[in-house]
Amino acid sequence: MLLQVKDLAVVVSGKLVVRSASLTVNDGEVVYLLGPNASGKTTLIRAIMGFPNYRVIRGKLMYEGRDVTNISLEQRVRLGLGMTYQIPPKIDGIKVRELLKELLRRRNAVSEYEEIISTLNIEYLIDRDLNKGFSGGEMKRVEVALLAAQAPRLALVDEPDSGVDVESIMYIAEGLKKLLNKGLSKSMVIVTHTAFITKYLKPSKVCIMKDGVVRGCGGADLIDEVMEEGFKPW
Ligand SMILES: Nc1ncnc2c1ncn2[C@@H]1O[C@H](COP(=O)(O)OP(=O)(O)OP(=O)(O)O)[C@@H](O)[C@H]1O
Ligand SMILES: [Mg+2]
Repeated sequence: MLLQVKDLAVVVSGKLVVRSASLTVNDGEVVYLLGPNASGKTTLIRAIMGFPNYRVIRGKLMYEGRDVTNISLEQRVRLGLGMTYQIPPKIDGIKVRELLKELLRRRNAVSEYEEIISTLNIEYLIDRDLNKGFSGGEMKRVEVALLAAQAPRLALVDEPDSGVDVESIMYIAEGLKKLLNKGLSKSMVIVTHTAFITKYLKPSKVCIMKDGVVRGCGGADLIDEVMEEGFKPW
């Protein structure tokens, strides 16, 4: 088992946002996390990543059998965790090209640069400041390119498809698939509101989060159920 989230409760800015989250991610799995707006998905992802200010008040995070509940974000990155932002930060003075190359240099993989920019179709964005004036779809493609450059063993991918057109979703799915197929990322947790991306990147498992609680997990058919019935039954 790569990741085990055991009955996690997380407080942010004095608010109990994640009340009880339990889920597991095995090697090679693509786990989709679905849930209504404000149900706590992003907060859970950030708590797993180890963002400061996301205070775990109950429960445990096990990664490769090791308790990582209290280690820093930097240490988690070193152990192989990585994430993409739902709303990526805009950074003046940092070019997409520079950041991508720096991330690739860190794992001696600069040779992957051309493939990443062509897979995500971001050639025309590489000389721009990170996310400054980028459209929604452009930001998401760059996020996945940065993830591909880091190639984390476990990728936590927060809404890679929101506000993204059909064609760009295919680029994004392709980028994520390459990471998995090359064995650069062993597993992923993907937050989504659409069934569309799951056509290109099949779920191993689907988990439903509602009101700060992971209500349960099931097979790929849960995607269709949710698309038909919404989250009421949960
Ligand atoms: N720093 C914070 N301070 C106060 N409230 C917060 C903070 N961060 C998150 N919340 C609240 O926690 C709830 C869950 O937020 P979160 O972003 O985790 O939801 P989500 O499931 O990712 O929703 P969406 O599908 O809209 O992205 C929301 O009501 C949000 O306003
Ligand atoms: Mg969110």
